[in-house]
Amino acid sequence: MNASTQRPLTVATIGDAARRGRRLVMLTAYDHPSARIADEAGVDMLLVGDSAAMVVLGRANTNDVTMDEMLLFVRAVATGARDAIVVGDLPFMSYQPSDEQAITNAGRLVAAGAHCVKLEGGGLMVDRVRAITQSGIAVVGHLGLTPQSAAALGGFRAQAKDAAGARRLLRDALALQEAGAIAVVLEAVPDAVARLVTERLDVPTIGIGAGAGTSGQVLVWHDMLGYGDRVPRFVERYGDIEVQSRSAVERYVDDVRSGRFPRDEHTYPMPSSELDALFSDAAPAAAVPEA
Ligand code: KIV
Repeated sequence: MNASTQRPLTVATIGDAARRGRRLVMLTAYDHPSARIADEAGVDMLLVGDSAAMVVLGRANTNDVTMDEMLLFVRAVATGARDAIVVGDLPFMSYQPSDEQAITNAGRLVAAGAHCVKLEGGGLMVDRVRAITQSGIAVVGHLGLTPQSAAALGGFRAQAKDAAGARRLLRDALALQEAGAIAVVLEAVPDAVARLVTERLDVPTIGIGAGAGTSGQVLVWHDMLGYGDRVPRFVERYGDIEVQSRSAVERYVDDVRSGRFPRDEHTYPMPSSELDALFSDAAPAAAVPEA
């Protein structure tokens, strides 16, 4: 079986699949066509990330997206995902204030089509993971560089670069697992730390800027396809959509202005008898187009 035709996974089977050596592939998606393409290409998990705030909505950071906006993205992705697991990201302040709020908002994402939800942080957020899990909704954790708390972390910078930070991260990862997390995203941490955490956890880790030692990888759709001007250090570009889109739109502008588009094949024919009737002398004067 080639890598893109492996059996679809579910929230209940990703752990076993990763333990048996399957490398998990996660990619962000925010709309129907991108979800359909990624799903058909064999992506295991579609993350409807709060990165939508930046890459889709053009906002300054990931905190500037509401629950209602995330619900719209989740609905669109769910219509395009046939086999992939849809992971709905809980946006900033949709889960931090209380367990009740976390459960309610996780439920809204699931009602919109997500199979599980993701939230950022260890420490106090471990209780949120436990509460949501106990309500019957599977949760993916997210540690390391957690963009929702970037200000508190001193900006968008790699985390756990010293032994104390690495031990804290490992403690948080183990706590998330104990609280029921089905997987943990590790963002922007040294390769050695991600490997250590991956070895110590039973649940899979999914890395972004965390090296090759995690159980799986995640990238942002726009970053990997060259759609936008962000190129974080850990991104491999697999496409150049921005260049292709720009050149296509420039050709469209030229073709309309020069009269090359539309051509006959783009228009709807009309039977000649109807044309004759339309332009015959018998037609009422008001209906005859001016020459
Ligand atoms: O929102 C997002 O896209 C994410 C990934 C970067 C993991 O959280």
